[in-house]
Amino acid sequence: MKPIVLDHPLIDHKLSILRSVNTGTKEFRELASEISMLLVYEAFRECEMEEMEVTTPMGKMMGHSIDENKYAFIPILRAGLGMVDGVLKVLPNAKIGHIGMWRDEETLEPVPYYFKVPSDIKKRIAIVLDPMLATGGSAVNAITELKNAGVKDIRFIAMVSAPEGIAKVNEEHPDVQIYTAALDECLNDIGYIVPGLGDAGDRIFGTK
Ligand code: PRP
Ligand code: URA
Repeated sequence: MKPIVLDHPLIDHKLSILRSVNTGTKEFRELASEISMLLVYEAFRECEMEEMEVTTPMGKMMGHSIDENKYAFIPILRAGLGMVDGVLKVLPNAKIGHIGMWRDEETLEPVPYYFKVPSDIKKRIAIVLDPMLATGGSAVNAITELKNAGVKDIRFIAMVSAPEGIAKVNEEHPDVQIYTAALDECLNDIGYIVPGLGDAGDRIFGTK
């Protein structure tokens, strides 16, 4: 499935500040949250709506609502946590699962360490959150874990993606729609996205 690369001046503006080496932890967190909110906004463009009757001060009308119970958001720990706040701003009742994995710095392979999702995950659309889609190893692994748990409809939201990561997810999980705020040039020889934004987890949590 072709990735949906968001093309919007507001996202471009915020992402450019997020990428800057001069952006500190507080601003990085705020921007990550705002960009995530805008990404979710786009990911819900085609979502199913239900009719609901609304009484306004002037009378009755038919409005629409989203059934938040159809979805679950799954941040990949750690960096995905920096996107949860933005999701909750637009979908405050969202159920949140967690998948923990880190990337081995030598092999670049993901090392899974945690999996906890809503008990009725099989019935939900799972939207995986991770700011960085680099080699695609973490994304593929997380999606496989969700499929093994019975999830049928999975989407993936990233802030910055590399062509290599998009290709890997498409190859292993062609049914998964990727939404990304940017599609960058390539990976460098240690698996970082160029130009990217550096290590997202370290920048969100101030660990380096
Ligand atoms: C980062 C990022 C992704 C992964 C992407 O996490 O948040 O999960 O790397 O790389 P990949 O596409 O090559 O798998 P990292 O492993 O650094 O862990 P962290 O979030 O705990 O910092
Ligand atoms: N993980 C990150 O945080 N940044 C990258 O560029 C690649 C993987």
